[in-house]
Amino acid sequence: MYENWEEVEDACKNCNKCRLCNERKNVVFGIGNKNAKVMFIGEGPGADEDIQGIPFVGKAGQLMNKAFEGIGLKRDDVYITNIVKCRPPKNRNPERDEAEACIEYLEAQIKLVNPDIIVLLGSVALKNILGIEYGITASRGKWFEKDGIKILPTFHPAALLRDDTKKIYFWQDLKKIRNKKEEI
Ligand code: URA
Ligand code: SF4
Repeated sequence: MYENWEEVEDACKNCNKCRLCNERKNVVFGIGNKNAKVMFIGEGPGADEDIQGIPFVGKAGQLMNKAFEGIGLKRDDVYITNIVKCRPPKNRNPERDEAEACIEYLEAQIKLVNPDIIVLLGSVALKNILGIEYGITASRGKWFEKDGIKILPTFHPAALLRDDTKKIYFWQDLKKIRNKKEEI
């Protein structure tokens, strides 16, 4: 549908296909290496992301950066985006119809990046990409495959801020990604 980055980014940045366009300050399209082997998909922008127009720059993002550093993964090596590109009010979960309206941009980004590995950060990303029947606690750390891409769900970094005991699992999952990346 979209032929190139310019087309998809332009359409997304001018989008008003769902109600999330009403309160956003900025569309948060995505950032990183457009030829990345590994792509990270979160839920949707929070307050800091909405202000800066860049994904994962707030507290959750800073924690994710630290974890990346710890395993020698650079933010510039990966591509990072979200299920919905506009901030849901009060950081509520995106509604199904909002995610459905927005998914065309993510699908285009996946086609253009063509990653070997997709990391799903948290339950919203998991359910929108693999299916609503999946739960994050049971699925995290397990490899799935879709359209020839290896998919690894893990906890959302914001969940680690709420519950310290999840950090070790997130760390383990990032190491799996690093190891798989080296295999490919
Ligand atoms: N949480 C997300 O899911 N995405 C962001 O970009 C920031 C916080
Ligand atoms: Fe468009 Fe997605 Fe923003 Fe909704 S969340 S207005 S579909 S870019």
